[in-house]
Amino acid sequence: MVFKGRSIISIRDLSKPDILKILKRAKQIEQLISKDPSKLLTLAEDKVIASLFFEPSTRTRLSFETAINRLGAKVIGFSGTEGTSVKKGETLKDTALTIAQYADMIVMRHPLEGSARYVAEVTGIPVINGGDGANQHPTQTLLDLYTILKNKGDLSGLTITMVGDLKYGRTVHSLAYALSLFDNINLIFVSPDELKMPAYLVDEIREKSGIKITETSEISDAVLKSDIIYVTRIQKERFPDPEEYHRLKTTYVIDKELMSMVKQDTIIMHPLPRVDEISTDIDSLDNAVYFNQAGLGVPVRMALISLLFGYGISY
Ligand code: CP
Repeated sequence: MVFKGRSIISIRDLSKPDILKILKRAKQIEQLISKDPSKLLTLAEDKVIASLFFEPSTRTRLSFETAINRLGAKVIGFSGTEGTSVKKGETLKDTALTIAQYADMIVMRHPLEGSARYVAEVTGIPVINGGDGANQHPTQTLLDLYTILKNKGDLSGLTITMVGDLKYGRTVHSLAYALSLFDNINLIFVSPDELKMPAYLVDEIREKSGIKITETSEISDAVLKSDIIYVTRIQKERFPDPEEYHRLKTTYVIDKELMSMVKQDTIIMHPLPRVDEISTDIDSLDNAVYFNQAGLGVPVRMALISLLFGYGISY
């Protein structure tokens, strides 16, 4: 794909070669940051990027804004709509059309599924989706893949167990699809019945890739054979029924006892934030890579932004 001028709304906007190109660029950028970060500081110095977070975020917003700063671009935007004219009733379309007068690219998170695609269509400038409702979070998937590549040396031949809220968890929706593009992948989905991976997605992955998928509510067997355990938060904010949330919120907890069952080199990933699903007792283990995973959001998002602006990187 030609990256320049494109929007990235869904992981489906990217082919396997596209993904590998972004990850290769992220590696180059990571090396440059450690050697001489000043080399990158002039790359996008004439660009303004709008960071529009209609929903709460720590990692996605701040790693995007770090990425923007490290590329020398300027960032404008908001975190929450308090203080914006959204509070006066301005529509998403009018907000987006206005901001497109000021910025060369939009990074946005919004509770409404399809909102990022809509903003890309009405503005005509590149939009990167930082999460739209329970739908898609493509840059999280890219940094997840980069984390896997760095820790496992390959994106093929892996058994990945996804645990927790697989129904509302947009990170696992995007990641499961992306992993299905690679060879010899074995996916295990562990969730309560109420929070199963959407059937349309399981069917699509099975039909397109033919990879092995196991769905279960039992975590013990799954973790024994996993190379990666990808844990998700039970998302209180997505539950229509608070009673159901309280009943399900501690169904699975990754703790020292469970870690005693896994292979020595099994890694524990989490898009964060966590609540109760990973015990802080395991944070110091080498297997626990989730904070480093959050850090890798910076080079991956720098890679994507630089490609969408059509910049080459010399190093
Ligand atoms: N992983 C992730 O999307 O975290 P934030 O909600 O803090 O951005």
